[in-house]
Amino acid sequence: MTTPIKPINLFEYETLAKQHLSQMALDYYASGSWDEITLRDNRAAFERYKLCPRMLVDVSQRDLSTKILGQTLPLPILIAPMAFQCLAHPEGEIATAKAAAKLGSTMILSTLATKSIEEVASASQNPNYQLPITNYQLWFQLYVHRDRGLTKALVERAYKAGYQALCLTVDAPVLGKRERDTRNQFVLPPGMELANLTTVSDLEITYKPGESGLFAYFLEQLNPGLTWKDLEWVQSLSPLPLVVKGILRGDDAVRAVECGAKAIIVSNHGGRQLDSAIASIDALSQIVAAVGDKADILVDGGIRRGTDILKALALGAKAVLLGRPILWGLAVGGEAGVQHVIELLRAELDLAMALSGCAKLQDIDSSLVIRLSIN
Ligand code: GLV
Repeated sequence: MTTPIKPINLFEYETLAKQHLSQMALDYYASGSWDEITLRDNRAAFERYKLCPRMLVDVSQRDLSTKILGQTLPLPILIAPMAFQCLAHPEGEIATAKAAAKLGSTMILSTLATKSIEEVASASQNPNYQLPITNYQLWFQLYVHRDRGLTKALVERAYKAGYQALCLTVDAPVLGKRERDTRNQFVLPPGMELANLTTVSDLEITYKPGESGLFAYFLEQLNPGLTWKDLEWVQSLSPLPLVVKGILRGDDAVRAVECGAKAIIVSNHGGRQLDSAIASIDALSQIVAAVGDKADILVDGGIRRGTDILKALALGAKAVLLGRPILWGLAVGGEAGVQHVIELLRAELDLAMALSGCAKLQDIDSSLVIRLSIN
């Protein structure tokens, strides 16, 4: 197969991105933990769900807008928090933020970004973009460090810079073992830094013989003692609404809501934490059933097609998060590449809605999807 000039789907972006990335960066982005069972299953699970389209519905006008945290957003696609985006492109998170702001796709900035909280906030406020800024959201993803002062400073900076939600990752008390990173002894290249952590400390992802530098960083710096009790403290740091990311069980989702979460992200961290954890799309229904309308439920993991989003919404998600394909777009074409990836997926969702008799997201209900049992 010859390499396409301009990718026409997210898989082609992935193929093309491989030509633009160092082996260390590609392995870091692409890998899952241990045997990568969950990584593969996140994708495979979508094929177990089949769609039952409705016919003879007027779908001449389609509306992809959704409401999350009380705000109307133009499309149900958010950008998942992903570390070290300068490994993909020199503009890194800035390019991603610009593309996101242009299209109204909420971006979640990682604590481990290679551009700072403030730089990313100002990059996404370009007045030339078509959408009023109220239609765009920027959220901040938080890793709670052992150093509480440092953690507090991060949240305060995000609030001050205008971020609209705090997304607390709860599935990473320690880092999952990504063996490709262990083999590569993953480290950030010279000149690349943890841009959010330089003003408060000198934290670095440094070379560790026989180990991934990020794995070592988590062991040293992140707080593995974090529990439900700490959610009160996290929320006391700012008035930002709390989004809890990394939930895979109904009882945990209920607990998160009881602790104040306004949204839950059903996620197994892209198959990068506990290997053999349930595929996120398989965990979704029980969490939707447990939480009801007490919080917005979002899901990530394996979304590559508009039909995947349709399935997730039919199973009760309000929106999905897109992860690795954003990095492939970034590696291939910077801001334009990220924009094109989102546009491709948005067009696929729009088409899938038309073909299944759904003019707006509210028309997508549970009768649209069935799960085939596997034997
Ligand atoms: C960082 O958050 C990672 O999962 O690699």
